[in-house]
Amino acid sequence: MRREDVLISAEALERQREIRRQVMEHNARLPVQPLALVDTYGCQQNEADSEQIRGMLSEMGYGFTEDEQEADVIVINTCAVREHAEMRVLGNVGHLTHTKRNKPSQIICLCGCAMQEPHMAEKIKKSFRHVDLVFGPHVLWKFSELLCQVMDQKKRVFETPDSPGVIAEGLPVVHKGKLKAWVSIMYGCNNFCTYCIVPYVRGRERSRAPELILDEVRQLATEGYKDITLLGQNVNSYGKDLGLDMDFADLLEQVNAIPGDFLIRFMTSHPKDASQKLFETMARCEKVAPHLHLPVQAGSDRVLKAMNRHYDRAAYLDEIRRLRALIPDIVLTSDIIVGFPGETTEEFEETLSLLEQVRYDALFTFIYSPREGTPAAKLPDPMSREEKNRNFQRLVDLQNRISAEKHAAYVGKTLRVLVDGENDDGRHTLTARTDGGRLVHLNGDAALIGTWQQAKITGSTTWALFGELVLD
Ligand code: SAH
Ligand code: SF4
Ligand code: F3S
Repeated sequence: MRREDVLISAEALERQREIRRQVMEHNARLPVQPLALVDTYGCQQNEADSEQIRGMLSEMGYGFTEDEQEADVIVINTCAVREHAEMRVLGNVGHLTHTKRNKPSQIICLCGCAMQEPHMAEKIKKSFRHVDLVFGPHVLWKFSELLCQVMDQKKRVFETPDSPGVIAEGLPVVHKGKLKAWVSIMYGCNNFCTYCIVPYVRGRERSRAPELILDEVRQLATEGYKDITLLGQNVNSYGKDLGLDMDFADLLEQVNAIPGDFLIRFMTSHPKDASQKLFETMARCEKVAPHLHLPVQAGSDRVLKAMNRHYDRAAYLDEIRRLRALIPDIVLTSDIIVGFPGETTEEFEETLSLLEQVRYDALFTFIYSPREGTPAAKLPDPMSREEKNRNFQRLVDLQNRISAEKHAAYVGKTLRVLVDGENDDGRHTLTARTDGGRLVHLNGDAALIGTWQQAKITGSTTWALFGELVLD
């Protein structure tokens, strides 16, 4: 991909800005401010995209609501990673026929990964006639123009061009809170794990220019953001397409050098290119959170090969060993797929033994879901759903035991936490996060939200820690 083909031109972006100015003028003359609702499914990348959609809507003069009855514009940002995610979206979109009946002027928009799948866009076109606008991830930057087309021409608009991917810089953003922010450092994926739809719907890997990433983090730090997550499907390949002498570890080092009292997180790392240099950089950089999400997916070498993951169990375990030698208290999390086509229960048990060896702090666990167009969807898949469910339950039970044990080991320790919100568990007033990302329930004054505090851990469960503030 040539860089000039990837970057959306300044003129094209300015044209979108001009459209937003015009819509803003129009909306400002209305007797009441029009409202928009943005609903997001899927991963942090989609959350970050939704913040840009809110940014564009805000520049067009829309306010925001959570109430679908009163929304003038509804945007549903969809995910395609598993069938369950798609079904939930379709269910919710179906339900919007009722709101649109009550409010016929309502504009319903669908975007995100599932809309980039031809069969899904086709289904919406044919069977969900109340949807006005469908657009894919590659034209997110054109949302303002597409919305205008729907409003001006009073017709349905479908825009899901196939593309290796683009980068649109300088889109407006409305962040969800005042503490945590996402910063995309790259888009797309080149890995083509055989089960995964992401490379098909998100295009090839492309990195943002380092100076723009650094400017964005500098701005967030100045605004007081405390928890900044660098995002990419595989952050460890950052920079490979830039032709600069710079990799992800170098970027991390430069972000760490930005003044401010913020914590840096990043996701996701692919084990095939998590380097020793990255581990050493994490250990050296005081703002980088002591947490690594390193999805292993499976414990059997045969299954890892069939998944096209490009590492084996021994190499993965060796990475974990080297990382722990540098950062003994590192919080480790992972993703696991149960029931990949052809995975036997014996092979699945190798995942269980890997869990015992690594002892993750927490896991994201999934039952394999066939995705149309991926190589794995064509493989024979003889294991029954019941057996997969049984294996899945064994995995969850084991991880719950390990998580509970790991959490129990915190009891008695005093740690730095970021107080991040009010608590609705009925017994505590505040929630907080350790630097490693573990949830802590606390009691204290709401004025502490947004501050770093010391907390003494007094209790734990599988899911969370309980603590007391140590105020000086
Ligand atoms: N780029 C990231 C995450 C991608 S999607 C990475 O490589 O780690 C998040 C997780 O969803 C994956 O790690 C995988 O565990 C899971 N996943 C992806 N495709 C899936 C499928 N078809 N069925 C079940 N789980 C899947
Ligand atoms: Fe999907 Fe693999 Fe890319 Fe992650 S690395 S997005 S699992 S293809
Ligand atoms: Fe889903 Fe797309 Fe993320 S498929 S997991 S929203 S990249």
